[in-house]
Amino acid sequence: MIIIHSIKHLQELTEIVRKKDKTIGFVPTMGALHQGHLSLVKTSMQQCDYTIVSIFVNPTQFENSSDFKNYPRTQEADTALLYEVGVDFVFIPSEKEIYPTPGIRTFRFGKIGAIMEGAYRPGHFNGVAQVVSRLFDIVQPDMAFFGEKDYQQLVIIKQLVKQMDLPVEIESCPIVRESDGLAMSSRNRLLTTEQRAHAPLIARTLFEAGDKIKKMSINTLKEWVAQTIDADPYLKTEYVEVVNAVTLHPLKRPTEADIMQLCVAVYADPIRLIDNIRLDKICKSKY
Ligand code: PAF
Repeated sequence: MIIIHSIKHLQELTEIVRKKDKTIGFVPTMGALHQGHLSLVKTSMQQCDYTIVSIFVNPTQFENSSDFKNYPRTQEADTALLYEVGVDFVFIPSEKEIYPTPGIRTFRFGKIGAIMEGAYRPGHFNGVAQVVSRLFDIVQPDMAFFGEKDYQQLVIIKQLVKQMDLPVEIESCPIVRESDGLAMSSRNRLLTTEQRAHAPLIARTLFEAGDKIKKMSINTLKEWVAQTIDADPYLKTEYVEVVNAVTLHPLKRPTEADIMQLCVAVYADPIRLIDNIRLDKICKSKY
């Protein structure tokens, strides 16, 4: 495994790979790696000849500086995990490498960028698009891998690739959950012991909602989800939304053609957790 810090070094290596006519899979991350990230990495390794993982905590996607400052940084543990998995290249650039001048690219995603995370974290998706487009320019991967936990991000990135006509295939990978159902997230390690004990209620409620969807209107279901989570003294929902899984259009009266995605953001103060679930595929919860 080679650890790379400069764009020049990375591009020397990717040029060699391309000359050999081999494919490059790319997994962008902000570090604090967990099994969710590793599932992306393993999928990339199965599907591509070479895999590059980037670790870069991108300042432009944080709306508040304390969230950026407190984001977990665990570089040594991250590189050890990636070494164990057998990744080829780990790209750990400095802020100067990524943004030699301040990030000024501006993106417009219309409605898909304006709801849910877009509404509560203004500027967030512009920052994500800035860094992902910059990383794609640098790495020029054949395929890039993103997790479904950040469901709206995944849809935005597919839109970004379409808008910029980028020659990269976006692959999504399912959410990886802890044994009690909590969606794996780098932010989970910031939870207190009590918050961690209460947080699995989020996933349990989503899975139960999957059973209830056949008996309730969307509005009643959303209210039930919010009330169930908010009844826990450690948790507070920021939004509960049911959207079309492809267009992210909020659904009130879904038709047969709508694939439904239930998405939530929940505070275990001050930590913000997100989770989501496909409604029409759910039978009984295992959590
Ligand atoms: O999902 C993440 O970890 C980040 O948003 C990403 C895609 C690495 C961009 O910084």
